[in-house]
Amino acid sequence: MEFVINPRETGFIRLDFAELFGNRNPVVLEVGSGKGRFLIASAIERPDLNFIGIEKSLHYYRVIRDRVTKRGLRNVRLINHDAFLILQKMINDNSISEIYMYFPDPWPKRREQKRRIIRPEALTEMRRVLVDGGSGIYVTDHREYFDAAAPLIAQFFRSETRIPGPSDPPRTNYEAKYRAEGREIYEVRFWKTRNVEC
Ligand SMILES: C[S@@+](CC[C@H](N)C(=O)[O-])C[C@H]1O[C@@H](n2cnc3c(N)ncnc32)[C@H](O)[C@@H]1O
Repeated sequence: MEFVINPRETGFIRLDFAELFGNRNPVVLEVGSGKGRFLIASAIERPDLNFIGIEKSLHYYRVIRDRVTKRGLRNVRLINHDAFLILQKMINDNSISEIYMYFPDPWPKRREQKRRIIRPEALTEMRRVLVDGGSGIYVTDHREYFDAAAPLIAQFFRSETRIPGPSDPPRTNYEAKYRAEGREIYEVRFWKTRNVEC
């Protein structure tokens, strides 16, 4: 399947997006796409953008792969791997216009927190790969993760926190599920500007 990128076969080579997508449209990255609701809806809505979904779970990756195949989406590429390694090894500097992270695993135990996607070395990579003026969104239902992540993101980016309200439509399956359960959702939006240096 030509829309699948498999670093286990290709090695961790830097991706040439113009070659990969056959155009020079801006590239949007989603970390942990789950069943692909946001990725697929966005790719349909914005054919003028290219989308890369990184999903570590083989099960979810297969769900997305089948959905993308069924819809014949030409502006989506999928990677079944750990997002940090992909960011670090396969994505060029200043090449991504938007990064989305919806409900990344919170790794609540202290000894596991080094695996969180919002950690200094991953934020360093996000800042490196984003274009100037590029943006990102991190959303969680996990208050403790949010409390740790928001100030960390602010060290690397200009950022704003917000609580999505009832009039904001849910963007992903987890968001829909957690909203239906009445859970609080926390969001950080961030931008790469020249004046916040890490
Ligand atoms: C809680 S689910 C959220 C899924 C989806 N974003 C949503 O909001 O419905 C977290 C997802 O991130 C994936 N994931 C966790 N750590 C990851 C990593 N390091 N790289 C890529 N995907 C990861 C998991 O496999 C899972 O599908």
